[in-house]
Amino acid sequence: MISPKHGFALVTPASRGLGFAFAQQLLAKTKLPVVATARKNCAEIRDQLLSSEGLPKDAEQRLRLLEVDVTDEATISSMADTIREEYPQTPLRIALAIPGILHVEKSPAQIDAANALHSFQVNALGPLLLMKHLAPFLPTKSSSEFPDTHDSESKDELKLPSHAIYAMMAARVGSISDNNSGGWYSYRASKSSVYQIAKTFDLYLRGRSAEKALAVALHPGTVRTDFTKEFWSGRDMLEPLDSADRMLRFLAGLPPGIKDGRGRCWDWKGEEVLP
Ligand SMILES: NC(=O)c1ccc[n+]([C@@H]2O[C@H](COP(=O)([O-])OP(=O)(O)OC[C@H]3O[C@@H](n4cnc5c(N)ncnc54)[C@H](OP(=O)(O)O)[C@@H]3O)[C@@H](O)[C@H]2O)c1
Repeated sequence: MISPKHGFALVTPASRGLGFAFAQQLLAKTKLPVVATARKNCAEIRDQLLSSEGLPKDAEQRLRLLEVDVTDEATISSMADTIREEYPQTPLRIALAIPGILHVEKSPAQIDAANALHSFQVNALGPLLLMKHLAPFLPTKSSSEFPDTHDSESKDELKLPSHAIYAMMAARVGSISDNNSGGWYSYRASKSSVYQIAKTFDLYLRGRSAEKALAVALHPGTVRTDFTKEFWSGRDMLEPLDSADRMLRFLAGLPPGIKDGRGRCWDWKGEEVLP
């Protein structure tokens, strides 16, 4: 296994959809240890991930599955304890925090308090608590830069930068300026929070880590996952692996300077989505 100074990657959750694809990409295109989470069936998900095409031989050794349900803070805190124990002195190099659920509401009358609360718990409080427990793993101002692991012979390998990246999954529909069609009240409102959380966290990191770590929000495009199942027929969609690959390449190329785009929301094409 690569030395701890290279850091580790984290994808939460990675049970299916985009999270699963991010974990596949990080296993295939980096040399980092990959911590992935799921609410249940960790052993099964681990097997599914390891049976992905094109993984290097050491993938099995690099992949660790941990159980996390973002509506239960104790599971997030226990993930952090396990990481501290199993990856001592290993900074978090790239994190993807992506829990998300949708309870469809087409009109105010369709709002159900329990469903709306659930949306806020998973989509807004989830990223907030993940950030709380994962922030201590990010490099500080005085940390060393991450060494270059990139193999210039390999066209496929992701060239990771020397700073850390913390990305949270927002959604274009969480943008207030882009809201032209209404509906999906609690999903929209909870995803708007992610823009705010990413910005506020990035301001914290500017002070704590300077150019050694940045935070951003992401919009993955419209992606063929269970999330969009209802709209699969008759609509062009990105495949999860494609969307994850585009976002990882964008993240890896985003510089850490204050004027360079940190703290903002970016889509899979690398175009900004204004809040
Ligand atoms: N697909 C799109 O077109 C699209 C567009 C914009 C934004 N997004 C956002 O992208 C993210 C991933 O979406 P997806 O398309 O991959 O959706 P998905 O296939 O429906 O996956 C949703 C993920 O969220 C997890 N999750 C649900 N409740 C959770 C909880 N309490 N704790 C931890 N994890 C929980 C699910 O875990 P289980 O397997 O355990 O249920 C699953 O891994 C979401 O935040 C979504 O809002 C997606």
